[in-house]
Amino acid sequence: MKRIGVLISGGGTNLQALIDKQGTVIKSGKIVCVCSNSASAYGLERAKKSGIPTRVIRKNADCGGDAEEFSRRICEYMKEMQVDIIVLAGFMAIFSGELLREYSNRIINIHPSLIPSFCGKGMYGLKVHEAALGYGVKVTGATVHLVNEVVDGGRILLQKAVNVQDGDTPETLQRRVMEEAEWIILPQAVEMVCSQ
Ligand code: GAR
Repeated sequence: MKRIGVLISGGGTNLQALIDKQGTVIKSGKIVCVCSNSASAYGLERAKKSGIPTRVIRKNADCGGDAEEFSRRICEYMKEMQVDIIVLAGFMAIFSGELLREYSNRIINIHPSLIPSFCGKGMYGLKVHEAALGYGVKVTGATVHLVNEVVDGGRILLQKAVNVQDGDTPETLQRRVMEEAEWIILPQAVEMVCSQ
């Protein structure tokens, strides 16, 4: 069994999908901790309800805005919890340094578009769906990829397409991409990496 650490920033619906798929889709891993860079992230409640240990590590409030220190502190927590695989499930802070080196090829991210469209620095959350609607694409989706030093640039593990519908708002599109793609392919990709 691989030990999985999940990093979140917000609502944590992808974290919930991972929790719910443990034992079925995710057979080769177990979530052992959740770390958030925001103290008010609802995902922390989801973790607590499932009895998963949590920690809050904030770049500004706890690390003086220092990206290297932020990365080091997260890495320290992951090692303390003996984490093998890290999953970024709606984690909105870019990190560098120690964590990337220590967990090279063992960090997975979910991005709410079909990479290489609508990705890279500054493209996260609703902004991605605003950009997709702004461009007028008829198909979007989600991508799970390995994390390296290039933002949204690591090797793609899984992708799933989702149709844009007439009258979509960023919110309705975000919800459909989550339901039809993210919550399905993230657990599948986690199992792929855990079973390797
Ligand atoms: C998800 O749509 C996820 O793909 C996206 O943020 C949302 C988090 O929702 N991640 C990114 O944009 C990362 N660049 P959640 O907290 O309910 O899982």
